[in-house]
Amino acid sequence: MKSIDDNVDLNQKKIILRLDLNVPLNNGNITDTTRIDKIIPTINFLLKNNSKIIIISHVGRPKGKILNELSLKPICDDIKKKINTNIKLITKNINEIKASDLFNNPNEKVLMLENIRFYKEEEENDTNFAKLISSLGDIYVNEAFSCSHRTHSSIHKIPKFLPSYSGLQLNTEINALKKLTSKIERPITCIIGGSKISTKIDIIKNLIYKFDNIVIVGGMANNILEYKGLQIGNSLKEENCKKIVEEIFSISEKQKCKIIYPKDVLVGKNLADVSKIKLSTDIKKDDMILDIGPETIKKIKNIIKISNTVFWNGPAGYFENSNFANGSYEIAKEIAENTKNGKIYSVIGGGDTVSVIKKINLFSSFNFVSTAGGAFLEYLEGKDLPGISALN
Ligand code: 3PG
Repeated sequence: MKSIDDNVDLNQKKIILRLDLNVPLNNGNITDTTRIDKIIPTINFLLKNNSKIIIISHVGRPKGKILNELSLKPICDDIKKKINTNIKLITKNINEIKASDLFNNPNEKVLMLENIRFYKEEEENDTNFAKLISSLGDIYVNEAFSCSHRTHSSIHKIPKFLPSYSGLQLNTEINALKKLTSKIERPITCIIGGSKISTKIDIIKNLIYKFDNIVIVGGMANNILEYKGLQIGNSLKEENCKKIVEEIFSISEKQKCKIIYPKDVLVGKNLADVSKIKLSTDIKKDDMILDIGPETIKKIKNIIKISNTVFWNGPAGYFENSNFANGSYEIAKEIAENTKNGKIYSVIGGGDTVSVIKKINLFSSFNFVSTAGGAFLEYLEGKDLPGISALN
């Protein structure tokens, strides 16, 4: 894998820069800018080397439709301020853009294409779409480690048509994870939560072979509770997961990996509600499980204490409402405390998990913080990430 800072001639070259600007948005306001802040040095590096930049990214999951609330505009405005350079957001249909339309103004240095997932071709990994985007630039740079597990056009296909390089931040993430996976000390605990159940539930099965404890919280835990025959009311869940959950339990038994899931939870009637503690066996039809309860927190803290390595990816609850943030905060504090005392080696990953630790000022309290969620877990699984293989 060649890196962009490896004596590449960048002078006046048009760089197609794939970033992961998938940051949380609330009514057009960015609620956590970590992913943006991490890639600013890369844009500055390219500008210093007289490159012209075409930024590509997605935000959210618009599934091939143009959704105004998922425009990159607020993100473009934020980056503009941070690099002190104008960025032109191109809203014209990508299929109608020609290379000769771009950079006609000599002062124009940075362009941004609108949300790449507004085009269904992106997730279909469409070859012609990738070819067309490639024709706009001279060089491709993947600076989106957190998207590199996706076999999407702008991650996996474009590198087939252009000289391709890894970005500075992508190098940092890979080097840190490589070092970590070679030095890992048992017992290893992995805490997995969040709402992207479909992305993570398959991964758990493979992690069982490598870890001693897997703590399942967040949306995925609801699938576990339902599998155990419990009522989960209106809680978030993934359909058709019975078989995979069954496999998770049967493999974990053979591999002697403990699976821990919530015995008590916090429920509300809707996302804006106040919280009520309930045993996982007492959930009513109109309840929504939105956080873990005090007994579960106690259990998780004890497991963290007896571990040597802890990975955490995905919040324990709907932390956006402070009534349901306690589980995530308590997990963060316990990992931070044990990291500080040198008792554990800790790695935190994922956009939402990073938001949680930032909210309580613990960002610098872990051995490594990755902005990647699904990509981070797939890397731990030992899988080849399509976006990385494409660069090799
Ligand atoms: C992430 O947030 O993990 C990346 O931006 C990938 O997003 P996705 O899970 O929607 O593909």
